[in-house]
Amino acid sequence: MTQHTVGYLIGSLAKGSINRKLAKALVKLAPPELVMSEIPFKDLPLYSYDYDAAFPPAALAFKKAIADVEAVLFVTPEYNRSIPGGLKNAIDWASRPYGQNSFTRKPSAVIGTSPGAIGTAVAQQALRSVLGFCNSPQMNSPEAYIQFTPGLITDDGEVTNVGTEEFLRNYMADFHLFVARVLSVLPKDA
Ligand code: FNR
Repeated sequence: MTQHTVGYLIGSLAKGSINRKLAKALVKLAPPELVMSEIPFKDLPLYSYDYDAAFPPAALAFKKAIADVEAVLFVTPEYNRSIPGGLKNAIDWASRPYGQNSFTRKPSAVIGTSPGAIGTAVAQQALRSVLGFCNSPQMNSPEAYIQFTPGLITDDGEVTNVGTEEFLRNYMADFHLFVARVLSVLPKDA
């Protein structure tokens, strides 16, 4: 069995984040071929290109964590019809200095949950635009707009609705197939 490393970024910094619950569920439901690890970003300062000559330690560690994994999964809320500022800041760090973009040719996927009926759809489109510019091959389908209802996913990542659980399991199975396909033609560090 060939395994692939996946770093996941949770767009929310909130302690009770429903997207963190979703991420925990996705880790549980991922096929054994995907080795999942969180890449945190809450300690990053606000990016400026003034740092490009000498990244601070937190930014070097974050950038290395992105570079070290074979694929990236974004699990993000929608804030004001876009992605949270902290997540955009993190992506900006990893994309720089110019010519050292950690996302280039690295496969990614986007998913998110919100109590609203469109389940982060607008934020996901905004993120897809950013990832396109960052030259990350993205899984186009399936899309996953998860409307969060109270208790849908427990704090431990147990999905309480059978249909949602099956959908999320299939989403991760498709992500595995996508990652394997991309890496077969664009091997990491090639
Ligand atoms: C929101 N929320 C929200 N929801 C949505 O579906 N579309 C939106 O544009 C927004 N905008 C928004 C802005 C800000 C600043 C906050 C704090 C919240 C509600 C949001 O979906 C809800 O708070 C979720 O719990 C956020 O996910 P996390 O942070 O709990 O993972």
